[in-house]
Amino acid sequence: MDTTIDTHSANILIVDDQELNVKLLEKILKQANYQNIYSTTDARQALPLFIKHNIDILLLDIRMPHLNGFEVMEQLNEVIKDDYLPILVLTAEPTTETRAKALSGGAKDFLTKPFDQLEVLQRIHNILEVRLLHTHLKDYNKTLEVEVKKRTEELERSRYEVIERLGKAAEFKDNETGNHVLRMSHYARLLAKTAGMSESDSDLILLAAPMHDIGKIGIPDNVLLKPGKLDPDEWKIMQTHVQIGADLLSGCDEVPLMKMAKNIALTHHERWDGNGYPNGLSGEDIPIEGRICAICDVFDALTSERPYKEAWSVEKAMELIRSESGKQFDPSLVAHFETILADVLECRSKHMDTITDSSL
Ligand code: C2E
Ligand code: SIN
Ligand code: SIN
Ligand code: SIN
Ligand code: FE
Ligand code: FE
Repeated sequence: MDTTIDTHSANILIVDDQELNVKLLEKILKQANYQNIYSTTDARQALPLFIKHNIDILLLDIRMPHLNGFEVMEQLNEVIKDDYLPILVLTAEPTTETRAKALSGGAKDFLTKPFDQLEVLQRIHNILEVRLLHTHLKDYNKTLEVEVKKRTEELERSRYEVIERLGKAAEFKDNETGNHVLRMSHYARLLAKTAGMSESDSDLILLAAPMHDIGKIGIPDNVLLKPGKLDPDEWKIMQTHVQIGADLLSGCDEVPLMKMAKNIALTHHERWDGNGYPNGLSGEDIPIEGRICAICDVFDALTSERPYKEAWSVEKAMELIRSESGKQFDPSLVAHFETILADVLECRSKHMDTITDSSL
């Protein structure tokens, strides 16, 4: 920070009921090249002028009609919640009592009448230097705050980026572009919101769902990319993707996003009727985020091409989802999914792989 501060553009306010004193101080200050000098002989104008001109230093007389200097300081202290009020008190009789009272009211220094030009300038300069340093420091802190906020937002964005790419990487082999994770995560947020989850929990699902199949990175290519139906051994291996994913995402339960991502990875193939994997949970024992992602995952898998299957039409996919209501899927969530179908399809066309165009 620059410590050689130019005080000459500071805003200076002179409050003294004696016109002569005001004129004299103005002359001294103008000769010393101070440019922004305001003044009044009416103490009642002190506060409004102070605020209007964003005053850096106040030269304040004590004995005045209407309001004395102590009362002006009281007013200022009430209104200006600044921790550094730059007040220089002008007094003809600097008794111990006056000094003590002025200092406790917030005065920073005193000028004794009649004024000595050099003394006036020296004291004003000293106070202004502290004042302007103080202002600089405050601005600097504000800049820092803005900077920290900006960095936090950047971090937030890059965190989402990493999550999305991680999810895409997992799907990359069996699903070309990885748009599946993007689409199903958006469907999941829509379904969560419609099913009555809070805005922030729905956003959390949007962020966590891309990792639902992260465990597929642990599945050998000859199983994952098999063009035809899996044999029982291969199917056993394939099913382990949920536990592999949950293990990858475990140990961070204190971070809500990570806990949700782990829950989704582990439970997105559980079934409402209890015949799913890996744990055969049923009904509401399955976390809601798992039940939501189950529907969205299957809808998008069905309407997409896979190494082992063609893309289905939306009609056929919805038929299957309806017929699995109460069996594979939570029936109330299936009902909610029907109500958001138009939004789902709009989102789908936005994040479409050219490869699945045949399903339109
Ligand atoms: P995925 O391809 O992302 O499919 C997700 C889920 O969508 C499947 O979970 C299943 O519930 C549903 N699904 C996908 N295609 C069909 C289908 O043709 N008919 C029906 N009724 N449902 C379908 P699921 O079954 O637990 O499979 C998990 C993952 O295992 C699949 O993820 C896929 O990567 C793999 N997989 C499943 N079946 C086969 C297969 O026959 N061959 C190969 N190579 N992989 C398979
Ligand atoms: C959504 O609200 O999740 C849909 C956003 C989109 O169309 O990408
Ligand atoms: C919902 O419809 O609010 C969620 C469905 C459920 O909890 O079973
Ligand atoms: C399997 O390949 O045996 C199961 C696939 C499925 O249920 O979709
Ligand atoms: Fe899966
Ligand atoms: Fe999936």
